[in-house]
Amino acid sequence: MMLPVPPSRLEVLIPSQQIAARVKELGETIARDFAGQDLLLVGILKGAAIFLADLARALPLGASFDFMAVSSYGRSSRSSGVVRLLKDLNEDIADRNVLLVEDILDTGLTLTYLRGLLEDRQPRQLKVAALLDKVSRRVVPIQADYVGFEIPDEFVVGYGMDFQERYRNLADICILSARDPS
Ligand code: IMP
Ligand code: MG
Repeated sequence: MMLPVPPSRLEVLIPSQQIAARVKELGETIARDFAGQDLLLVGILKGAAIFLADLARALPLGASFDFMAVSSYGRSSRSSGVVRLLKDLNEDIADRNVLLVEDILDTGLTLTYLRGLLEDRQPRQLKVAALLDKVSRRVVPIQADYVGFEIPDEFVVGYGMDFQERYRNLADICILSARDPS
């Protein structure tokens, strides 16, 4: 039996055309920084999959892909502070240029954990691209090297991001809120 879906409201925060324009700019900046070098894009599943797919095509560089999966939220929308590695890389990253591709930088716990894990494997360079940055939510001091958009402390879905596995396929980034009781 399907569980009842709580009523909710979607409001567009960043429309798809604006995302596309910003991803193109990020691609140009990253390509300039890694000019003439190969780059391994490491996407954090599942939220970053769509961002990685678009960013990769905006990069005029030799690029390969790999993916990791972690759980930090479970089925709640609050950070548990616990990061568990569900899927590790297939590739060896020693002496390679690595760009960690993340959907949202929120408390910073996930990225702090992943960056430490990857730094231990001694890549030549490790940089981080986050599509969204909720600056006001940070509990550990960490910054991305490339940020798409700074956003307010709202729960967002779409363009890869979910609430309980829903809404990932929305083209726009939308704010999800509980429907006003009426
Ligand atoms: P952090 O460890 O708190 O920085 O959490 C980062 C991860 O939490 C992101 O990669 C997302 O998967 C998830 N997350 C944080 N905020 C949101 C949101 O507004 N919508 C959907 N997922 C979110
Ligand atoms: Mg998520």
